[in-house]
Amino acid sequence: MESRFDIAARVQEIAPFHVMEVQTAARALEAAGRSVIHMEIGEPDFPTPPQVIEAGQRALAHGGIYYTSAIGIPELRVAIAQHYLDRYHVAIGAERVVVTAGSSAGLLLIMALALDRDDEILLADPGYPCNRHFVRVLEGRPVAVPVRPETHYQLTAELVDAHWTARTRAVLIASPSNPTGTTVAPDEMRRIAGVVARRGGRLIVDEIYLGLSYETPGAARPASALETVAGEIDELFVVSSFSKYFNMTGWRLGWIVAPERHVRDLEKLAQNLYISPATLSQRAALACFDPDTLRLLESRRAAFRARRDFLVPALRSLGFKIPVTPTGGFFVYADCSAFGEDSEMFCRDILTSAGVAITPGIDFGCHRADKHVRFAYTIEEAKLEDGVERLRTHLAREARVRPVLPTA
Ligand SMILES: Cc1ncc(COP(=O)(O)O)c(C=O)c1O
Repeated sequence: MESRFDIAARVQEIAPFHVMEVQTAARALEAAGRSVIHMEIGEPDFPTPPQVIEAGQRALAHGGIYYTSAIGIPELRVAIAQHYLDRYHVAIGAERVVVTAGSSAGLLLIMALALDRDDEILLADPGYPCNRHFVRVLEGRPVAVPVRPETHYQLTAELVDAHWTARTRAVLIASPSNPTGTTVAPDEMRRIAGVVARRGGRLIVDEIYLGLSYETPGAARPASALETVAGEIDELFVVSSFSKYFNMTGWRLGWIVAPERHVRDLEKLAQNLYISPATLSQRAALACFDPDTLRLLESRRAAFRARRDFLVPALRSLGFKIPVTPTGGFFVYADCSAFGEDSEMFCRDILTSAGVAITPGIDFGCHRADKHVRFAYTIEEAKLEDGVERLRTHLAREARVRPVLPTA
């Protein structure tokens, strides 16, 4: 019998993750005995560093896994502030650090703080899909701004200015980005901050992939917006996470660096929405900043970089267009229009015919989504090589059946 209760409109507008559907189809093929190369998964394949697991085990043995302060244990807030000084040469007070249940909770808290009903926030299209859904759940309006290779698939000061309306309250930028792996140059970030400040808005920068930077356009080293836009804007919120660089996705731990005057309001929101981030995860994460852990993580960053250096030219040699080389994270956003008009169909084809799982562009927005796919290099290099060979064989077979379309 049909329920007489309708679900709220805000839920009806939330699209499922296609990547999860790709994953389900891939698992079904594997259950039927096929081998699949997984290039759809957006989390590091490396396990949580042993030092962190041991710290977690010690915390469990010690007991006292009770709620913590909603904004995190003081030692972890201090350690995160120290990490900004050591790694990014920027001094921030620990009182500005809000530890959250993953950066997902951090983004939700900031949007709850910043948006009233029908308020607008500017986002890049393509971009990380959950962002527009956070905004919709809060009854705000996500404004997806198409971004092109010419701007490294990122918002610019000009784009922000051109899309600003009387209802715009904030801009959210992920640098490096998911799905494109591209980075906003520090100079451009400063210019964007200048526009947002002049317009009286807030700048939110998602730096979840900053630790996995391989190059930084226009700079010798990776830079946090906390450093690059200092002096340009007061209303700056930086979001980050233990998920990606620190290989702790399942521990659900992240953080915000907020203007100090907003910490109390973020705390009230966190108290009410989820009480506190996981205590065990916080205690374990203290070991992330030990020199031994950081050495291991740096060797893993080098491995990601080597994978990128293999995958990008290999995909180009197959006929994918990758106009901007990704500079961070573990994704390649590739134009697959040489192989057809519909990237979802293309993904289904290569999964069933070649046993290679990748994500269709539709997960990341609307702008030319049907012409793009995302590859994740979250598997070891031998498997990446296998995936590329499978694609080469499949595309060569297809080309004999159907000529490759002329490129635009
Ligand atoms: C750009 C971006 N931001 C935020 C998140 C959320 O990550 P978490 O909640 O694990 O910190 C992700 C996860 O894939 C992401 O890609």
